[in-house]
Amino acid sequence: MVAKKPRARIDAALLLLVLAAVMGFSARPCESSLYNPPPPAMAYHDGAVLDGVVPVSVLYYGAFPPHHKAVVADFLLSLSPHGRDMQRQHSFGAPGPAPPPTVARWWATVDRYVRKASLVTSAGARVVLASQVDDAACSMGKRLTRAQVEHLASRFGVAPGGVAVVLTASDVAVDGFCTSACGTHGSSSTSLGGAVHVWVGDASAQCPGRCAWPFHPAEGFAYGDTAGRRGHEHGRVEAALRAPNGDAGVDGMVINLAALMAGAVTNPYGRGFFQGDAAAPVEVAGACPGVYGRGAYPGYPGAVRVDAATGAGYNVVGRNGRRYLLPALVNPDNYSCLIMS
Ligand SMILES: *[C@@H]1O[C@H](CO)[C@@H](O)[C@H](O)[C@H]1NC(C)=O
Repeated sequence: MVAKKPRARIDAALLLLVLAAVMGFSARPCESSLYNPPPPAMAYHDGAVLDGVVPVSVLYYGAFPPHHKAVVADFLLSLSPHGRDMQRQHSFGAPGPAPPPTVARWWATVDRYVRKASLVTSAGARVVLASQVDDAACSMGKRLTRAQVEHLASRFGVAPGGVAVVLTASDVAVDGFCTSACGTHGSSSTSLGGAVHVWVGDASAQCPGRCAWPFHPAEGFAYGDTAGRRGHEHGRVEAALRAPNGDAGVDGMVINLAALMAGAVTNPYGRGFFQGDAAAPVEVAGACPGVYGRGAYPGYPGAVRVDAATGAGYNVVGRNGRRYLLPALVNPDNYSCLIMS
């Protein structure tokens, strides 16, 4: 066992390097003789999507610092801004005017899917932050099954057409967290009106290289092994990005929350928008894995903006001038990856 583990790590790193080389090659503009198959369609399966007002309730399960809750709440409030949220705001004491918010431009792609599915004229999915609840004492313990997570989601409930979001703190273990998922979305029944829920875990203590990348070195590259060093010589292994809100745990959660909210709205009951097999659907935020900026390849998130003051990587701006890094979504017109810049 002891001898085997490093071997597997090296293999994983080599695989990533090989993938990186392949991706870099096919992205070169002069290789026009290479056939690039068109991306698969993000097919609509004639089922319900979440249309109109989408009330979102958030349960913070475990100890969350107020700052982390503010990061999450500001993100959700930035998706469908209205009224005074539209005005430029900036953090207290921040120099100069805040840049215009762009999180809503990212969500506008989700709205386009919702409108595509709608028979009548639809304004898309308007996310409203309905409530925030704390369970700081972990009323169901610090080891949860998926069924317990669903139970928590139903206990703190949401209005029909809404989404219950359960966020678990860094010291809470959930079945399959890290090994099979950084979070999930689902519903209590597969029909319209079934309660929709999203769960995301804070990975900072359990698997930051999997669920908080690119704010933490990716698992395959994290160990300075032979393959990793060779990568450095080729300038391919990139250092982790600084987290825009100062914490890989919460900024990683926002990435996964964003992807799962997009999936929950466009495929709430398993008959909405996805590619491939219904048993393993690739949803609108899953078809461009690891893509945050132009030129991304496995192990490298692509070129993103860098905050001059903090050095943090981001690609959108939200409420209160807050920066976030959000995953590329599939363009509903031509199925290419839509990169925020
Ligand atoms: C897809 O459409 C967008 C505009 O909506 C365009 O910028 C992009 O180049 C297109 N991608 C491909 C691969 O055609």
